[in-house]
Parts: sequence; C-alpha cells; structure tokens
Amino acid sequence: MILNRHVFETFLNSKVDPDYDKFSDKLIKLCEELPSKESGVNYSNAGGWQSEPFNWDHPKYLGPEMFSYVQNSIIECVRDLPVKQNVGALFKNFWINVNPPGTYNTTHIHPGAQLSGIFYVKVPDNSGNLVFENTLEQHNPLSQFLYGVPTETASVTPTAGQTIIFNSHLPHSVELNMSNENRISIAFNILLSVNSNEVT
Ligand SMILES: [Fe+2]
Repeated sequence: MILNRHVFETFLNSKVDPDYDKFSDKLIKLCEELPSKESGVNYSNAGGWQSEPFNWDHPKYLGPEMFSYVQNSIIECVRDLPVKQNVGALFKNFWINVNPPGTYNTTHIHPGAQLSGIFYVKVPDNSGNLVFENTLEQHNPLSQFLYGVPTETASVTPTAGQTIIFNSHLPHSVELNMSNENRISIAFNILLSVNSNEVT
C-alpha cells in the first residue's frame, strides 16, 4: 500500500466584492459614528472599539439596507467554501471592529463555531495585516523543506470590500494599525450543519 499525502491542511477563503465602491462611503460613515454612540466590549482588541455581538436578524448598528448588503457580500464567499454539497451554514453572530491608529488585536481563536470570517470595510495602507498561526508547524524544522517558504505564520494584507473566511480554531491576530486612519471590519462566526443546503 502506498500512503503519500499531505494531511492537516487548512484553507483561507476570500472574495472581493467588485461593487464595494457603491457602498463604501455610507458603510464607513455608519461604522465610524458608532464608538461615540454605542457602548462596546473588549475581547481581543487592544484599544479600539468592538460592538456587542448581534445576529442575522438584528441590523441594529448598520440598518437594514447596509446590513443586507454586507450579508450578501459575505454569502458570495460562503458559497465558494470547500465544504461538501449538503452542508448548510448558519450565521451565529456578527460584530463590528473600529480600530484607530495605534491599536491591534491579540492572538485568539473563536470557540463555539466551525468557521469565522471578516468583511473589511476600511483598510488604510499600513493598518496591520491579519496573521494566522500554524499551530502544527511552529516547532517543525521540516516544514521549510516541504513547502519552500516559512509556514509558521500566514500573513494576509486585506483590501476594502474583501471577505476572508477561515477555521475558527486557527489562532490569529491583527497587527498594529500604523496608519493615520481607522481600520474597520465586520467579523462573524458560522455554524455548519450536515444534510442542509441553506445559508442563513
Ligand atoms: Fe478573530
């Protein structure tokens, strides 16, 4: 028997909305007004403002029109996930992040979900990469010979209007915002279920 294969691989799914420019100004304005109007919470954010989590039917922060736009953009990325045909996706919760210059997010995971993701509202240059940690390769000197590149971390420079979806249990952080403007994103968690094709 021959058993030559890679195991324990993961994926990052990503999609950029080509129509984002039509919505960006309104969405950015809505989000940038939130920290002065709404109380926030503190989890992984070192500085900055993070909203209370809200669910699929709760457009409290963004209003129905903008929240619907964000939901539809995210769904376009969900439809391309490398999961089996009969797997359904349920959005567990969303939250908004407004990170001014000098703030960052410490390394964390998202317990209680299978997939997590981020929709990027505003990404100034040098506002910090999204960095994933490969917990399987951190102490593995073989990895550079297998892949030809360092595999301890994977650093992503997002763009406005982009959705990125990843394994909720993959540790990740956001680097220091070294720009002069806010970095703004809308994060979410997804629960998967078998024998369903629904996306809600
Ligand atoms: Fe996160």
